[in-house]
Amino acid sequence: MTIISKNIDQAVEILNGENLVAIPTETVYGLAGNIFSEVAIQKIYKLKQRPLFNPLIVHTYSIDKVKEYVDDFPEKARLLAAHFWPGSLTMVLKKKSIIPDWITSGKDTVAVRIPDHPIVSGLLKALDFPLAAPSANPFGCISPTSPKHVKDYFDGSLKMVLDGGICKNGIESTIIGFENGEPVLYRLGSISIEEIEDVVGEVIVRNKKEVAPDAPGMLARHYAPNTRTFLVENIQDFIHQFENKRIGVLSFKKEIKAPQIVHTEVLSSSGDLKEAASSLYAALHSLDKLNLDMIVAEQMPLIGLGLSINDRLERATKQK
Ligand code: TXA
Ligand code: MG
Repeated sequence: MTIISKNIDQAVEILNGENLVAIPTETVYGLAGNIFSEVAIQKIYKLKQRPLFNPLIVHTYSIDKVKEYVDDFPEKARLLAAHFWPGSLTMVLKKKSIIPDWITSGKDTVAVRIPDHPIVSGLLKALDFPLAAPSANPFGCISPTSPKHVKDYFDGSLKMVLDGGICKNGIESTIIGFENGEPVLYRLGSISIEEIEDVVGEVIVRNKKEVAPDAPGMLARHYAPNTRTFLVENIQDFIHQFENKRIGVLSFKKEIKAPQIVHTEVLSSSGDLKEAASSLYAALHSLDKLNLDMIVAEQMPLIGLGLSINDRLERATKQK
């Protein structure tokens, strides 16, 4: 039985024992372990069934701590840190030798972030080490935004979910790397490109194929429900051809009615992309439980967090 509890002391004890705790953050729940314990980190890879070439994010609680782990802090990284930390931005920077290779899959860079969640900040301050934490889902599956999502995935094989409620942003952190001091987008996420560019000017955005080698986790199929899922511009037009199917719909603003639609999840009736991002994974989890023939998701507007949501939906709809 996996316990769901708010008890930070208990989480500390489990983590000190080289075991794992699922932690709340403002983005998604993470599957956390001591970065300096090879035993704990192996447990993360094993439980998630994550390929070893895919490095982990280091979570800590202050910029001073980050400086203990990274060698080079370019000016634009400083600006971003000052503006967005604590928060949903991960930066990939040159690592110091104190960061073990088992965190970085042997790369000379490390991904770091300071999460913005009171419970996890309290936990990080109570520990003598930072936490590696990938999203707390089996590799390739939908990310968890509630304690129950985590428990449904790992009940019995994980000791504890530290209960921090529902994740308020609901989509993973945005990942930025640096080339010659200039910011490069590695992963779309909770903070839009527009917000980042307001702080540091232009961000280098490559096409997705080029991004892949730098951020090895950016695989084509990811964040995926078990139910076959489609991403379309117009739901009504698309579902015509499937009159005898049981369809679940993920729509941006409006309920869509048709005889074959069994259920609709509306992400934000007011058309707020931030709200839509925060509801995305919970909506996919709910639809996936309905024994549908298919899920049909509506493409979001091509701006701000709409781009991040579309990125996740594109990966969720890739065939196995
Ligand atoms: O919001 C988040 O970032 C969540 C919460 C729990 O903090 N964590 C998360 O971790 O999404 P994960 O492991 O699911 O995704 C981490 C991504 C992967 O795509 C990985 O390849 C990339 O970060 N990454 C980690 N270290 C890297 C490095 N040194 N260079 C390039 N990419 C790296
Ligand atoms: Mg993940």
